[in-house]
Amino acid sequence: VSLLTAELTHDPRLAQRVGAMRPSLVREMVAAAARRPLLSLAGGLPPDDAFPQRAIADAAARLLAQADPSVLQYSPTEGDPALIEVVVSDLRERLDITVNEGDVVITSGSQQALDLSAKVLIDPGDVAVVERPAYVGALRALSAYQAQIVGVSVDDDGMDTAHLAALLDDGLRPKLCYVVPNFSNPSGATMSAARRVHLAELSERYGFVVVEDDPYGQLRFAGTDVAPIASHGVGNVLYLGSFSKVVAPALRVGYLTAPAWLTRPMVVAKQATDLTSSAFNQRLIVELFTTNGWLADHVKLLRELYAARADVLLSSLATRVGTRLHARRPEGGMFVWASVAVPGIDASALTAACLRHDVAIVPGTEFTVDGTCAREVRLSFSVLSAANLDEAVARMARGFDDLEAHDNGRST
Ligand SMILES: Cc1ncc(COP(=O)(O)O)c(C=O)c1O
Repeated sequence: VSLLTAELTHDPRLAQRVGAMRPSLVREMVAAAARRPLLSLAGGLPPDDAFPQRAIADAAARLLAQADPSVLQYSPTEGDPALIEVVVSDLRERLDITVNEGDVVITSGSQQALDLSAKVLIDPGDVAVVERPAYVGALRALSAYQAQIVGVSVDDDGMDTAHLAALLDDGLRPKLCYVVPNFSNPSGATMSAARRVHLAELSERYGFVVVEDDPYGQLRFAGTDVAPIASHGVGNVLYLGSFSKVVAPALRVGYLTAPAWLTRPMVVAKQATDLTSSAFNQRLIVELFTTNGWLADHVKLLRELYAARADVLLSSLATRVGTRLHARRPEGGMFVWASVAVPGIDASALTAACLRHDVAIVPGTEFTVDGTCAREVRLSFSVLSAANLDEAVARMARGFDDLEAHDNGRST
C-alpha cells in the first residue's frame, strides 16, 4: 500500500484551483483497509453494527406505503419543512440556540455546508483560520477556493484563542475561523466555555464568521456539555450539524443555521451544486426523530459503545505501548490524538511501520497545511471491536519495536 498521496499534476486544460486540491490520505487509507485485511484505526466512521438498520427499514416502508409521491420528488433547496421544524426544536431544546425556520438550510452532509461556506465567503488569497490540527475535509474545501489557511494551535481546551487574538492584533484579517468545538477531528479536544465566549467576542470585534462544525456533539461520554458558540447570540456564527454520526453517513443529510445575509447566498450556491438534498432521506430522518424515544435510545447506545471502545484503546495503549506514545483522553467522539514520545521516531515512520504490521493509522501532518504535527497520530476507536482494538495496538507496539531495533542497530 503506497502511503504517498499523489499530487494532482498540473494540466493546462484544468482550472488553476485544481492545483490547490489535494487527495485525502485518510480516504486512501479507508480504501486500502477495504482492499486487504488491515485493522484500521484510520477512518472516522460509525461502526457498521451500530447502524439503526431496522428502524430505517421500517421508516422507509412507512414512507413508501403512503400515497404521498413528494418523497421521491425534487424538493425545496432550503430543505424539507418538516425536517427544518425538527432541527429548529432540536437546536432550541438541546443547545439553547433559538432560530426561526427560515434560518435553517438542510445540506447534503455537513461537508456540503463546508464547501458552500468557502464558496460564498472566500476569494482567492483570503485568510481562513483553522485549528492546528484541523479536519481534512475542511482543509480540502478551503483549499479548493484558494484560501490562505492559517492554523492556530490546539491544546486540551481546544483552539488557543489567545494565540488567535495575538495574530489578529498583529493585523491578521480572516474571513472565517473554522472550529470543531466538541471532540474535534482529529485532536479529540473540546473547546472550553471561556474560549468559546472569547472566540465569539473576537469574531464580533474583527468581523469574521465563525464556522462551528458540530457533527460529534451528541457523542459525549464523559464530562458535561459546553454551550455552543452559536448560543452566545452573536450575529456571525455559522453552525453546522450532521445526521451522519447519529443516524448514518449514507443518507448524506446535514444542516446549517446562520444569519440571513449568509444563508441566502448559500441557498443560491446550493442551487448550482445539487439543487436540493434528497427529499426521501430527509423524510426518513423526520420519521426517526418523531418516533417516540427512538433518538434518545439510539444516542445512548452510541455513547456507551464509544465510551467502551475509547477505554479499550487507551488502556491497551497504556499497557502495550506505554510511554512511547502520549495519548489524550477525549470526552466523546471517535478520536484519540497521540504524540510519539520516542526521540528519532516521527509519525510518518510509525505509520509506515504500523502498515507493515497491517494496522492503519493517520499521521498528524495530514491535518495541517504547514507540515506541523509531525510527531502526532490520529487513532480512531469507533470501528473496531474491543478485541480488534487490542490486537491493533499490539501490532502498533511491534511497529515501535521494529523502529527502535532499527534505530539501535544504527547507533551500535
Ligand atoms: C469535523 C467533521 N466535519 C464534517 C464531517 C462531514 O460530515 P458529513 O457526513 O455530515 O458530511 C466530518 C466527517 O467525518 C467531520 O469529522
